[in-house]
Amino acid sequence: MKSIKVLFVCLGNICRSPMAEAIFRKKVKDEELDHLIEIDSAGTGDWHIGKPPHEGTRRILDERNISYSGMKARQFSEPDFEDYTYIVCMDSSNLKNVKEWSKQGESASRKQLFTFMELSPDRNLVDVPDPYYTGNFEYVYELIDEGCTKLLHSIKEKLDAGN
Ligand code: 4NP
Repeated sequence: MKSIKVLFVCLGNICRSPMAEAIFRKKVKDEELDHLIEIDSAGTGDWHIGKPPHEGTRRILDERNISYSGMKARQFSEPDFEDYTYIVCMDSSNLKNVKEWSKQGESASRKQLFTFMELSPDRNLVDVPDPYYTGNFEYVYELIDEGCTKLLHSIKEKLDAGN
């Protein structure tokens, strides 16, 4: 079993969290850490279950030769809460929903459960804006690429420190 499991969560699981999943998977592979880190994404909503990433996300990933092969939307479910080491929510409403889902306020506060933009405090942004509504997939790519680099850096530091 892989020792670290990372789950990205958004609303529909077709725009932001699959973009984060694909980008983070590439970075982890490039660092040859894929044997240690498992990555997935999920949505709090159920509208797009089984669908591939949104065409805007696919275009961003295609342009950069980042694979999203086999990725299909799924809904977050309660077992995810126990299964994953890190649950990274693309916005504050996703975080609120996941916390409510867990029905375990106490363990929710112990979990590595946070919003994606907490990885880049200098940006002074609370949420990754939803390109399903804004159409701005390029800006979302910029934010997600930066945050994924920081997340991997932080995980590597923990691995190097042996915890
Ligand atoms: P995402 O974007 O949460 O980044 O995947 C959305 C995708 C679909 C919907 C909302 C947001 N929707 O309402 O269908």
